[in-house]
Amino acid sequence: MSETNTNGKVDMEKIVSLCKRRGFIFPGSEIYGGLAGTFDYGPLGVALKKNIQNSWWNHFVTNRDDIYGIDADILMNPKAWEASGHVSGFSDPLVECPKCKKRFREDTVEAGTDGIRRCPDDKEVLGASRQFNMMFKTQIGATEDQNSISYLRPETAGGMFVNFKNVVDSFHPKLSFGLAQIGKAFRNEIAPRDFIFRLREMEQMEIEYFCHPSKWEETFEHLRKEFKAWMMSVGLPEKSIHEIEIGDNDRAHYSKRTIDFEFDFPIGQKELAGLAYRTDFDLKQHSEFSKTDLSYFDEETKERFIPHCIEPSIGVERTVLAVLTSAYREEEVEGETRTVLAFVPSVAPIQIAVLPLSKKDELSVPAQEIVKKLRKIARVQYDETQSIGKRYRRQDEIGTPYCVTVDFDSLNDKMVTVRDRDTMKQERIAIDKLEEYFNGKF
Ligand code: GAP
Repeated sequence: MSETNTNGKVDMEKIVSLCKRRGFIFPGSEIYGGLAGTFDYGPLGVALKKNIQNSWWNHFVTNRDDIYGIDADILMNPKAWEASGHVSGFSDPLVECPKCKKRFREDTVEAGTDGIRRCPDDKEVLGASRQFNMMFKTQIGATEDQNSISYLRPETAGGMFVNFKNVVDSFHPKLSFGLAQIGKAFRNEIAPRDFIFRLREMEQMEIEYFCHPSKWEETFEHLRKEFKAWMMSVGLPEKSIHEIEIGDNDRAHYSKRTIDFEFDFPIGQKELAGLAYRTDFDLKQHSEFSKTDLSYFDEETKERFIPHCIEPSIGVERTVLAVLTSAYREEEVEGETRTVLAFVPSVAPIQIAVLPLSKKDELSVPAQEIVKKLRKIARVQYDETQSIGKRYRRQDEIGTPYCVTVDFDSLNDKMVTVRDRDTMKQERIAIDKLEEYFNGKF
């Protein structure tokens, strides 16, 4: 058994093709020719995505006392985006070809040896660079005027800052504490590309963690470690995660320190997530624009102040792509290529496949009984189609860690074969010991 991609690099085309073939991810609105920057999740993709989201939520919200969940609306009062600086500053430099009218993000077009940027398609000299705001504008209600303009949120963070006072007034949390949210965000990217890496519609998992200004450095360090530990828990190898300190000139307008977590994607080492020290920028701005006091009163020290904020932020789709990249393997087995998604069991869409050797009732009925029993402890799929070899290969390709095969011997010895996806080793286990066998594996 050997890995074919010996340089350790996974081919993006292979991942895209597997995702389509096996029902993970499809191009958005495909039957109409697609829509750039959008993708739809199929049955296995949505399961993988939800498992990743649940894992993040459990790690940071359910299993902690100091982080509170939020689910704010996508549409917000447009003043919130003026306060955050997005209306005036959330833009990318854009250049346009005067001939074909195609638009490019300036930093994606390299200048020629003469220092001039030309259209990659028809070689015309590109026009002067101008700023392009990436927020999607929309109209609220029936009248279309300046007062009816709103935006699809470009980050989930805003919904947490505007609810800071609501949570303080209803839960009276003691600092330090955080708000967490998973939800859709929209960016009118000039050049969406690289499968689900750069999208126009995406989901983010973000935490706004508030602390006393004197505690920002230790809080930053704590969240840095937790963030990385979570990434590794969903199967990203430590060696593929790179922490990059962002320089003064490259940070977002609200940040005094940012670390980007870059990952070795098939397209190269690129940003997966960010950890930003947003200071008191957001709460101050929202206080000023909304005329609402967003300060915090510490009962113990009798001090009133605006808390400072540390933000771990990660895109769901980039995490899905990083998980797929980390899990993808091709191996040579008995002269054939075996494709495997070696997901960690906690994120695998299906954790156990139950496979009767024949469709006949005498095997399918007891197999269905096993499915019922195992569904109490795992995500289980029943599959009776095609030969057992083909079913094993299919389960390998969709990342199922275990297959349970019910054969004719099972009727007499009350045992089944459990096959391990990674080692392909098989062992006989008594049916009434199966729950015990799988206990703790997921
Ligand atoms: N609230 C901070 C914030 O939104 P960001 O670096 O602009 O910061 C956070 O975005 C994360 O969201 C990124 O690290 C990335 O994982 C994801 N993300 C940003 N833009 C994206 C896009 N166009 N497509 C897919 N994911 C994106």
